[in-house]
Amino acid sequence: MEVLPSSILSSIILASILKSGFIYCQSSDCYPQDFKALNGFHEQLDTPIDGWDGPLLACCKRIGVMCESSANTPSRVVGLILGNRRLKGEVADSLAGLDHLRVLNLSGNHLGGLFPAKLFQIQSLEVLDLSYNDFQGSFQDSLNLPSMKSFNISYNKFGGPLLVTVCHNTSYIQTLDLSSNNFQGQIPANIANCSSL
Ligand SMILES: *[C@@H]1O[C@H](CO)[C@@H](O)[C@H](O)[C@H]1NC(C)=O
Ligand SMILES: *[C@@H]1O[C@H](CO)[C@@H](O)[C@H](O)[C@H]1NC(C)=O
Ligand SMILES: *[C@@H]1O[C@H](CO)[C@@H](O)[C@H](O)[C@H]1NC(C)=O
Ligand SMILES: *[C@@H]1O[C@H](CO)[C@@H](O)[C@H](O)[C@H]1NC(C)=O
Repeated sequence: MEVLPSSILSSIILASILKSGFIYCQSSDCYPQDFKALNGFHEQLDTPIDGWDGPLLACCKRIGVMCESSANTPSRVVGLILGNRRLKGEVADSLAGLDHLRVLNLSGNHLGGLFPAKLFQIQSLEVLDLSYNDFQGSFQDSLNLPSMKSFNISYNKFGGPLLVTVCHNTSYIQTLDLSSNNFQGQIPANIANCSSL
């Protein structure tokens, strides 16, 4: 019976350490806050997202995730584009941790429940498309989207009085589609304050 010389044995051990180290490095090129936000979102869904296999997969390599980095700053998630991907379940409020997010598109899925109020407060968000889902609830008091340009929540079950604050903190908004929901009451007068609409 042959015995492995200790030098070979230690190379094998070293190689295994390097290999696991490599996997660890891949996960660490996610900005930790983005990594946590995306994993929280994924875990709360009823169905896994195709191409998101393995919790250690780097954020920016996942399908539908757009990142941006500038010199000397870590790559941050700026877009989450998961339209028509047959996603089911509820959206986790951990997603609000993506505080550089500019585009969120969850259109055409089977997502429901209350859309987390915190996501209506992401200061960097410019495009929000939640159309064709089953989101419900009223969100008038939580809306604070100062960068918003395009807001589409059509074909959901949002209800309550309409968005009395829509143009209060959202003055750059160009596109507003609230059609096919269960809103009640009058169109708020401050819609006239949406001067870019
Ligand atoms: C969101 O994704 C859907 C499906 O891919 C697409 O049709 C739609 O144009 C996208 N919305 C925006 C605002 O880009
Ligand atoms: C609008 O923004 C101001 C300050 O930026 C904040 O105090 C206020 O709560 C916001 N309004 C809403 C409805 O979120
Ligand atoms: C909002 O989304 C729906 C469904 O995706 C689409 O048909 C509609 O054109 C969008 N509205 C605007 C103003 O872009
Ligand atoms: C429109 O904006 C102005 C200036 O910010 C504010 O004084 C006014 O109350 C707003 N009007 C409505 C209807 O919200």
